[in-house]
Amino acid sequence: ALPPGREISGLTRVFGILADPIHHVKTPQMLNALMAREGRDGVMVPFQVSSEDLPTLVAGLKRMKSLGGFVVTVPHKTAIVDLCDEVSDSARRIGAVNTVRREADGRLVGEMLDGKGFVGGLVAAGIDPKGRSAYLAGAGGAANAIAFALVERGVSRLTLANRTRAKAEDLAQRLAEAYPAAAVEIGTSDPSGHDIVVNGTSLGLKDGDPLPLDASRLSPGQIVAEVIMQPEETAILAAAKAAGCRTHPGKPMLACQLDLMADFLGMRALPEAVR
Ligand code: ATR
Repeated sequence: ALPPGREISGLTRVFGILADPIHHVKTPQMLNALMAREGRDGVMVPFQVSSEDLPTLVAGLKRMKSLGGFVVTVPHKTAIVDLCDEVSDSARRIGAVNTVRREADGRLVGEMLDGKGFVGGLVAAGIDPKGRSAYLAGAGGAANAIAFALVERGVSRLTLANRTRAKAEDLAQRLAEAYPAAAVEIGTSDPSGHDIVVNGTSLGLKDGDPLPLDASRLSPGQIVAEVIMQPEETAILAAAKAAGCRTHPGKPMLACQLDLMADFLGMRALPEAVR
């Protein structure tokens, strides 16, 4: 339901979220509430679409003049890249897009905000990665976005560690091509010697998952950050606390990312007529 006092008219700007499955997404509630607070005449609705139908749907959305844009999530973040007319340099390098704006002329402009949301959440908590060393476990979708965002923020050096080493090497290579001056290396499960330690794997989502890194090597003074939002305290965060580290949960990434999405999609602008 829309927040009280809001109704949809012929002037309402439409935003979508593309996913499959889609029943669990929370972004519409949060961005609809944000648009209500901002006095923006817009609405976000779920667009469930299969991978097979994605190109057809996106071609149609390009032609939909009342569309402001859409959020893209699992499993479409990679496939959407080539369906956009333009994507940011970092989204192109990461190979994924999670937010697409529709310009007045119908062009679809893609951006990847996962990593920027993560770094923004850290900065908002008073932990600026700029000039600090970082250790990142993982080399999947989330870790790729975070690695680029950490380097773009200016970490002094970045160590990547992943179960499948080849994926970490591939990520390091793409980082080096994009940022030749960045100090990126491949590490082991030992996170010692780094200011900020990040779990960018999916380990911790499920009860009984192994730890994503060797927690016995953590020490006070290190900050351990998580990408997983649920559970709020993953096993690695609990182990980090026990080791005397400062911890940073996955949740703040979400709030920051919603703000970035709202900015990118123009959800804070004044209402405008359907073009
Ligand atoms: P996401 O979108 O959450 O990043 P993903 O792209 O599937 O999901 O990436 C999952 C990450 O968690 C990968 O880094 C993966 O390691 P591999 O590249 O070796 O697959 C890591 N991961 C998942 N399960 C793991 C496990 N049991 N042990 C170690 N790493 C694991």
